[in-house]
Amino acid sequence: MSQSTRRPMAAGNWKMNLTRSSARRLVDELRNLNYTLESVDILVAPPMLLVPTVVKWVSGSTVAVAAQNMHWESKGAFTGEVSAAMVREVGCTHVILGHSERRHVFGETDEWVHRKLVAALENDLVPVLCVGEKLDEREAGRTLEVVGSQLDAALEGVSSEDVLRVVVAYEPVWAIGTGKTATPSDAQEVHAFIRRHLGEGRGSETAERVRILYGGSVTPSTIAGLIVEKDIDGTLVGGASLNAETFVPIVKSSMKR
Ligand code: PGA
Repeated sequence: MSQSTRRPMAAGNWKMNLTRSSARRLVDELRNLNYTLESVDILVAPPMLLVPTVVKWVSGSTVAVAAQNMHWESKGAFTGEVSAAMVREVGCTHVILGHSERRHVFGETDEWVHRKLVAALENDLVPVLCVGEKLDEREAGRTLEVVGSQLDAALEGVSSEDVLRVVVAYEPVWAIGTGKTATPSDAQEVHAFIRRHLGEGRGSETAERVRILYGGSVTPSTIAGLIVEKDIDGTLVGGASLNAETFVPIVKSSMKR
């Protein structure tokens, strides 16, 4: 299986941003783009309250909608949370899990991320599994160890067949929202490691088919250098995904040549 069989993806994580009207303008631009651009999967992750509306706006296009988070339990006394089935029911096809802000601002553990990933798969959602090291971990030379252990914990007991349904996003924590992007070769080194690591338990043929996105201060000027790297299959974009002027060029540049 060659890299060309991995369809590139450009994903926008809106975090806690955008009002209804600014979201509408952005989605309209993405829908228009979608008709002319068949070789990139476009994904948007709006704040939860906007999800049902955005699902309606994208209908008839191939733009897909992700939740930014969910709980692993199917129901119960979990104030403020939503379940995988609820996320699926409103029309999301994907869910971002283990984002660094969830891990480091809200204290999500590897164990929680694992439980969420299993619940997402059981409910027919594609998990976009985020992994990445903090600055002190990179400086201590522990990047691969940290990323490897996050992957192992999240994917423990998950079959090869199910791993094929997962999209991995490598997002170095020090690059998120900071304006510091990993160099293409630093990012490629970690992406190649992730693919090798996935292949160790599940075979290289499986690993070759898993999409691995890069995230962390991606802009229209950094995307071109990143996307040419062999194991970078697209991007997960925060700040630059909030308006069409910056996200549309990133989507267009996410096509693999
Ligand atoms: P950023 O965010 O592009 O603003 O750095 C990326 C992310 O958090 O997914």
